[in-house]
Amino acid sequence: MPEKLRWGIIGTGKMSTLFTRCLAGAKHVRLQAVASRNKEKAAKFAAEFNAPSFYGSYTELIKDKNVDVVYVGTPHTHHRDSVLSALANGKHVLCEKPMGVTLLECNEMIAMARKTNRVLLEAFMYRVHPQTIRLQEVLKSGRIGDIRTIRSAFCYGLFSDSYNVRLDKDLRGGGLYDVGCYCINFSRMVAGAEPTRVEALWKLGEESGVDETLSCIMQFPSGSLAMFDIGIRSTGNSYAEIIGSKGRIIIPNPWKPHPVKSSFHIYAEDKNEEVVINNGGNIYSLEADHLAEVVAGETKPLIPAKDAMNNAIVLEQIWKRIHGA
Ligand SMILES: NC(=O)c1ccc[n+]([C@@H]2O[C@H](COP(=O)([O-])OP(=O)(O)OC[C@H]3O[C@@H](n4cnc5c(N)ncnc54)[C@H](OP(=O)(O)O)[C@@H]3O)[C@@H](O)[C@H]2O)c1
Repeated sequence: MPEKLRWGIIGTGKMSTLFTRCLAGAKHVRLQAVASRNKEKAAKFAAEFNAPSFYGSYTELIKDKNVDVVYVGTPHTHHRDSVLSALANGKHVLCEKPMGVTLLECNEMIAMARKTNRVLLEAFMYRVHPQTIRLQEVLKSGRIGDIRTIRSAFCYGLFSDSYNVRLDKDLRGGGLYDVGCYCINFSRMVAGAEPTRVEALWKLGEESGVDETLSCIMQFPSGSLAMFDIGIRSTGNSYAEIIGSKGRIIIPNPWKPHPVKSSFHIYAEDKNEEVVINNGGNIYSLEADHLAEVVAGETKPLIPAKDAMNNAIVLEQIWKRIHGA
């Protein structure tokens, strides 16, 4: 049984708030501290979630001896510095996706985790949910044969006029880094390989200058193809489909499976089946407990840090096509 790790939260935005709320549902967790660039915001956040300590700088939290694990919930471009510093100060780290915005950044962070012998996980929460684990078992069983085509989508509607990091080009805003990273991660997981060819088309927002709609197609060494659509100013749409030589699988909710009941459908030569996962759990609580189990040596990471590097290669490739350097 892993010990209860003491968590420190960096950043008090939307995702940090949701994640911290879900920490209450995790078994091996104690909320210890929160840090914001603004001390008042940190104090308010700490009061809301009963965190014993709060700080007006990220560095102070990283140096807090009572913190075992740091959660990094800042914009993509800010992950690297906090992750490197947290690892160097002996903390384990759960870093929001995408871990780094370039392969180089991911390499640096992973090298630091190795050097300091700390656990570093990229917060692709869907990977720790039993739905994804079961899906991987079905694929491994050969039930749908050889993978031919992988399709996925992650679209949502960001229509507010107020400032949003997702529309800020300087922070690697746009759908690609925000939600495209899920589709790339999923396609690579299903293919069990890295793409040899990546093609994309996109539509930039007139005001934002970032990709607000994007479609991509990737080819894997076996010849299988993965295509995905993302949109951040669209109607919500999330799904995934895997087509094999002997059947296909439809996953209606691949990214945020419901904690009480989720399912996917297999249409195979032998029989059709709905695979139902009851009480699979909250994705963010599962993520925190998974990290504790990895720290305790009870399990291997379901989201290996190296995976972040291979995702970053694809992300960076598409970003460079969109924006040049
Ligand atoms: N896994 C998931 O389901 C999921 C969902 C949504 C987002 N995310 C990821 O979580 C990360 C944060 O996204 P979010 O939606 O929480 O963004 P957000 O609401 O804008 O919050 C980001 C926080 O980062 C801090 N920050 C540091 N430097 C900043 C800067 N230059 N500009 C703005 N904020 C800055 C701020 O906290 P302080 O002011 O307190 O310092 C801010 O509140 C992203 O990497 C995103 O991809 C993951």
